[in-house]
Amino acid sequence: MPLSPTDIEALGARAEQMVNALGTISAEPDRLVRLFLTPEHRRAADRVADWMRAAGLVVSEDALGTVRGRLTGTGPKRLLIGSHIDSVIDAGKYDGPFGVIAGILAAEHFSRSGRKLSFGLDVLAFGDEEGSRFPTTLASSSACAGAFRGETLALADRDGVTLGAAITAYGKSVEDIPAAAYAPGEAAAYVEVHIEQGPVLEVRKEPLGVVTAIIGQTYLNVAFAGEAGHAGTVPMALRRDALTGAAECIAAIEQFCRTDQDGLVGTVGYIHATPGATNVIPGQVSFTIDMRAPTDMHRKRAVADVVRQIEAIAGRRQLSLQLDVTHENRTAPCAPWLQEQIAQAIAAEGFRVFELPSGAGHDGMAMIDIADVGMVFVRCRGGISHHPDEHVALADADAGARVLLGVIENFRPLEG
Ligand code: GLV
Ligand code: MN
Ligand code: MN
Repeated sequence: MPLSPTDIEALGARAEQMVNALGTISAEPDRLVRLFLTPEHRRAADRVADWMRAAGLVVSEDALGTVRGRLTGTGPKRLLIGSHIDSVIDAGKYDGPFGVIAGILAAEHFSRSGRKLSFGLDVLAFGDEEGSRFPTTLASSSACAGAFRGETLALADRDGVTLGAAITAYGKSVEDIPAAAYAPGEAAAYVEVHIEQGPVLEVRKEPLGVVTAIIGQTYLNVAFAGEAGHAGTVPMALRRDALTGAAECIAAIEQFCRTDQDGLVGTVGYIHATPGATNVIPGQVSFTIDMRAPTDMHRKRAVADVVRQIEAIAGRRQLSLQLDVTHENRTAPCAPWLQEQIAQAIAAEGFRVFELPSGAGHDGMAMIDIADVGMVFVRCRGGISHHPDEHVALADADAGARVLLGVIENFRPLEG
């Protein structure tokens, strides 16, 4: 059913209004912090559930806090549309919420039309795409994909609260995690609209992009133990300073990734040193590493190389080392048949079809276990993301929401 121009204008404006509303739900008054399974997650999930109900969807919530708005169709298969409502620390408003909101607005359009689609539509608001609370990520979409890793329940946040305890504190039961999974063959596809989070679309003057693949990622946690001591009395040659060991590692990781010619990126985004006093040699340090590369082979080789360098630095500095891979996702290719349908929806809106890979991680990396994945990228100002200045122009928000609607309207499941 074609949209009237008024509907079309309303889509972008309503999306922006809803993004702004969700953007006010934060743990802190002066910046956006909405971590997985926190009171802020609860408030955002409740708001999303209200929007879904108002859109005519039947709402439920699973053990990992994923809010699911459901519209039944005439056939048994379901098209899954989703994104996430958790945020990084000091986040922008669009990363995640825009995709959830575009999904709700599209579902509302079909629910109001009174015409049943030949497939069911589920709009999913996941709670753990950023991995900003626990040293793992995609727990909520993994549960929907039936691939939740039980061992991650023991992983703790920076306050020592385990994922298992956080699930209980959120009012859920780990026993119910298996029930979050879709049945094999139930999902016809998983489609997500997300801001690009990089500068390519803006540089190419394209409002939208068809994502070809989501590149893989490895998260590591490194813990060094040296010896704390007096900053004035222990000679430099006799120290086992865990923090200078970490500093050497961080510089080595940067140097290693910088000299790579094929798109390897490595980031140390968090470090914690104890005891943490001006006049005490740091005895213990832990830090995280996030490594990504365009191919899985490249990433795995790079991770192995970085691990060897860290082991060598620890050995030379007589630091004991505990190194854990806390999360790993292989590269998730977007299905060519979904890319084709997304391209058609983009062309139908009068835009050029532009393809690009995603360097950022997305819930599709988990959902690919149960469904083919397709993604639409929407241009964001200056390519800025994971930053409060994240912004999407109203016209681009319109375009992204309209294209998602077009994808659903003309969705044809893969035969067979
Ligand atoms: C999520 O935005 C990620 O790519 O880490
Ligand atoms: Mn995201
Ligand atoms: Mn993000």
